[in-house]
Amino acid sequence: SKRNLSSHGDEEDNFQSLPTRQGLSAFNCDLVHYQGFWYLDTSMVARIFSARRHFQAQPSDIFICSAPKTGTTWLKALAFAIVSRTTVDDDDDSTANPFLSKTPHECLPILEFTFPSMTPHDDNGSCLPFFNRDPKNPLIATHLPFSSLPESVSDSDSSGCKIVYICRDPKDTFVSMYHFFAKLAASRNMEPIPLDKAFELFCNGESSFGPYWDHVLGYWEASLDQPDKILFLKYEDMKEKTGFYATKLAEFIGHGFSSEEEGNGVVEKIVRMCSFDCLSNLEVNKTGKIAENTAWEMENKLYFRKGNVKDWENHLTPEMAARMDLITEQKLSGSGLTL
Ligand code: A3P
Repeated sequence: SKRNLSSHGDEEDNFQSLPTRQGLSAFNCDLVHYQGFWYLDTSMVARIFSARRHFQAQPSDIFICSAPKTGTTWLKALAFAIVSRTTVDDDDDSTANPFLSKTPHECLPILEFTFPSMTPHDDNGSCLPFFNRDPKNPLIATHLPFSSLPESVSDSDSSGCKIVYICRDPKDTFVSMYHFFAKLAASRNMEPIPLDKAFELFCNGESSFGPYWDHVLGYWEASLDQPDKILFLKYEDMKEKTGFYATKLAEFIGHGFSSEEEGNGVVEKIVRMCSFDCLSNLEVNKTGKIAENTAWEMENKLYFRKGNVKDWENHLTPEMAARMDLITEQKLSGSGLTL
């Protein structure tokens, strides 16, 4: 039935008075500051506020968390391929490819994009659930920092859900983000933000879902507190030992591979299916679009650039790299984490 929406009233009006600033973002829009981080717009903040108030995590939920441009697409692909694999005795058919018709991003809901900012009602005025789960898919994605997750997700005692986080060398994350937003701007005939200006903004923490270092640290510290609940991954490690981490991921989220599956090459098959080369060469990722006919419409191919470690060497001067390394060292000092 058709959804009617009623607003939260006062609190929502307050989102309009949150600080805004030009940052590293899509379409050169101003970013909005909320709970220590920068967001795309006030309507996203309203959805986050609403999710924090109404989202109730279930023990079966698996959260795929990341800051943008750290390997989200890859992690989503691996997690989705793992949970949706059908195991049959016949080796050839043990993993059908779910990515032929949609990008990994379309395989799971994104909390801050899909959660309604207002209470949904049906035609009779009855309150509808805020969030409909697909019983076959326990995965939910988010770019939210750990500190802004709904409490039922982040709290150690409450729900028993799992969290997987991926992070990446800040220099490669920045270079990836710079290119992503530059291409997005070009697709709308807009001037891309110059590299040096983008660099300043990123270093100042003024990037989408930034400050990047605070994002990483939040999940890192939480993963030390709650190691059974939060799996903390690094893009660089995963590139080096993809099979190992795919196996670890599967086990952590309660979908571990049987020895029969391991013997049948299911892990390798999933790793290959989710690899940059395979995904980026699929027709849907070469010519398809995501969020078609909305303000966020974009070409799927923007999610696949190079997929390499240390591409920053081709784009940053030694001075820029040294400056970012210093920020990283200072920010992560004493945390036990290196990036
Ligand atoms: P580069 O711009 O350095 O190539 P996100 O998915 O969080 O938006 O991150 C995008 C980055 O991940 C891009 O990095 C992209 O090329 C890379 N990427 C996308 N799919 C990948 C895959 N299957 N394996 C490894 N890296 C991938």
